[in-house]
Amino acid sequence: MLQRRQLLLFAGVAAGAAVGGAAWMYYGPPRSNLVAGGPFRHYPFDPVAVENFQQKLFIPVGDGPFGVLDVAGPLKIRATPARFAFLPGRESPFLLYLTEQAGKAYQNPILRIESGMRFTASLDNGLAEATIIHWHGLHVPAAMDGHPASTIAPGGRYDYDFKVSNRGGTYWYHTHAHELTAEQAYHGLASFFLVDDDDQRRVNKALDLQLGVTDLPLVIQDKQFDAQGKLLYKPDAHEAMMGWLGDTLLANLTPNAVHTVTPRTYRLRLLNGSNARIYRLAFVKGKTALNFTVIGTDGGLIERPETVGEAFLAPGERLDVLFDAGQAQPGEDIFLKSLAFDPMENEGSSAGMPGMGGMGMGRMMASMSSSRLPLGLEFNILKLSVTAGERIVAKLPTTLSQVKPIPTGGAAQRKIELSMGQMRFLINGYTFRMDEIAFDVKRSAVEIWNISNPTLGMPHPMHIHGFSFQVLERIGSPPQVAATARFGQGRTVSDLGWKDTVLVWPGESVRIAIDFTHDFSGDQTYVFHCHNLEHEDAGMMINFRVQA
Ligand code: C2O
Ligand code: CU
Ligand code: CU
Repeated sequence: MLQRRQLLLFAGVAAGAAVGGAAWMYYGPPRSNLVAGGPFRHYPFDPVAVENFQQKLFIPVGDGPFGVLDVAGPLKIRATPARFAFLPGRESPFLLYLTEQAGKAYQNPILRIESGMRFTASLDNGLAEATIIHWHGLHVPAAMDGHPASTIAPGGRYDYDFKVSNRGGTYWYHTHAHELTAEQAYHGLASFFLVDDDDQRRVNKALDLQLGVTDLPLVIQDKQFDAQGKLLYKPDAHEAMMGWLGDTLLANLTPNAVHTVTPRTYRLRLLNGSNARIYRLAFVKGKTALNFTVIGTDGGLIERPETVGEAFLAPGERLDVLFDAGQAQPGEDIFLKSLAFDPMENEGSSAGMPGMGGMGMGRMMASMSSSRLPLGLEFNILKLSVTAGERIVAKLPTTLSQVKPIPTGGAAQRKIELSMGQMRFLINGYTFRMDEIAFDVKRSAVEIWNISNPTLGMPHPMHIHGFSFQVLERIGSPPQVAATARFGQGRTVSDLGWKDTVLVWPGESVRIAIDFTHDFSGDQTYVFHCHNLEHEDAGMMINFRVQA
């Protein structure tokens, strides 16, 4: 499965790669094949037009770009400017994490480590601006977490050393540079952090899945490109407020990707690595949505496989799914799509502002995006081309893992109110200030947070550092969410298991339980923020302190 050899040629993988710049070249079909053919939508790489899906999906294997690095000792990671050709023959400035292990060079490696192991790494900042790495979803001491206060200047170094105490699961790492997270993550500073354990191995063994072959990490992102094929990131005041939306869909950095599959079950570890776009995911053949089975969410496996037809995935969230490609015949195509939805569904006319024709504030703001792919439009993400092969019908395990409910008897209740003021979104009235602590939590306390979003708002994916939580209940969900709430207390499949990010829709309240037990010494200050990265950078973030 050396597909990446056809796709990407990494230049400069010499011994010094971990300290030098990098250049990636793209080899794909000629560009003339890739021009959109829809009657109204005429831009190259328009993901609405199915005929655009012709570029081989980049599959992470071995070393090199996006390679899988089985962590076997301390790593030296360097953040550095690089170039990457997303579009045939057109290079764009890009940012990369470079590292080496056992004489092999990696760029933005998929780090893989066993639960319970120690992770040691240094980060050298080779960028022209400040940066820091955050390990999204990992339970680490505050000093290891990549809090924006840990941001290092160009030329600086930060040393990480922590125990990976999380259970097996699909986590990720990305820049958390103070007020520069959105731009740096958009330009490349992000990848997977896979934690392995017995439960994970049991599932992969039972289903005969192999990482990089039938178990595929898949990061979904939307970007804009200029006429030269360079990444475009230029939010105006409205876009800075709503979040930056792309109009080209990338799966593992491949625009309009196609992947050939045989009639068997695949595991897709879906990560929404977009700055602001929410996806309503479905596998569609013709006009029919096919079933898929969710086996995991943010913090690893859920208790049992849950078969569904669609699921929302917000920025920062992960969804681990099994998909049986044998639901189509050889020669047929299946599209992983984002279905149409109304991001402001609950706003309706009742929330309309005077003089705005019944249009709510969020709806009005959303309609002002410069993206040719507005939030909620239906489009394709990845084409799966089914080819002949042995029909393998997987027998799903009935139980996957144990998810013990957090004991909530006597838990403290905390109100978390999202709001809007002065062209920015706030949490409990706060805009982020580095040295301001919004509230203290007692060590080992269990708290229930009731996160409420006003109807005059927009959906916010809310994310906590340092801890995982369980979603207890959704109240007041918009009809399109309520329609899939099959899991009790208004919960959808994306709410099951251990979570670190939860989408809160306009008009909705989401109750989550968090257990603040940890084994670090001293006070620990973490952030809680919106994972719409433009919102985060604009200060939709608070510090909370877990007291020693
Ligand atoms: Cu993935 Cu504070 O973020
Ligand atoms: Cu995080
Ligand atoms: Cu937000």
